[in-house]
Amino acid sequence: MNFSELAASRHSVRVYQPGVTINDADLKQIFEDVVQGPSSFNLQHWQFVVVRDEERKRELRKLSFGQAQVEECAAAILVCGRLDAYVDAPRLYRDGTVADRDKFVPMIKAVYEGRPALQREEAIRAGALAAMTLMYAAKARGWDTGPMIGFDAEKVSALLGLAATTIPVMMVVLGRARDGKQPPRGYRRPVSEVVRLEHMAGGALD
Ligand SMILES: Cc1cc2nc3c(=O)[nH]c(=O)nc-3n(C[C@H](O)[C@H](O)[C@H](O)COP(=O)(O)O)c2cc1C
Repeated sequence: MNFSELAASRHSVRVYQPGVTINDADLKQIFEDVVQGPSSFNLQHWQFVVVRDEERKRELRKLSFGQAQVEECAAAILVCGRLDAYVDAPRLYRDGTVADRDKFVPMIKAVYEGRPALQREEAIRAGALAAMTLMYAAKARGWDTGPMIGFDAEKVSALLGLAATTIPVMMVVLGRARDGKQPPRGYRRPVSEVVRLEHMAGGALD
């Protein structure tokens, strides 16, 4: 499958085959792809909680306005972002060049320390990119997914034991679509509407 085929075949799946499970080895392969993704200063703010336990999925469903896919999927994955990822800069840059370490470690501290709004934005940016990579990495291996923000973030954070410095970015449910039938792709704004060349007042990409 080339990338255009992958992008075209990914849908948000809400109805999953019952009884399908995903093992640690398959999850590991997917997450090995996910951690290749980009992040500001390479801080890799992301963290993931994979929920496969039936009882815990049932609890998550209750906290997700009853959305059935949270219970019926093989794994409900909470994609999180760390507000304090920047404190790891010395460790993350330890094996790099001295020049990079001397330049970036103090710069990262100066950029993030005492700036909660930026910390939050960056955690969400990194987590959102990771969630997208997760969905494509899963699809490339025959798994279907669905991104979700329809859940009680505070209660889900408590249920899954998130640190106070870690925020949920979105949930991604993963499994095998039931009977493989997908609804047609929802309306997409055309490229000519969403792309402007050089300036917002510039030409469209027709
Ligand atoms: C951040 C985000 C949150 C979403 N939350 C939900 C959700 O709570 N429940 C749901 O059924 N779909 C949810 N969706 C899926 C969207 O409805 C879906 O991506 C959109 O309709 C486009 O369809 P497609 O993903 O099949 O291309 C969410 C998608 C994103 C990106």
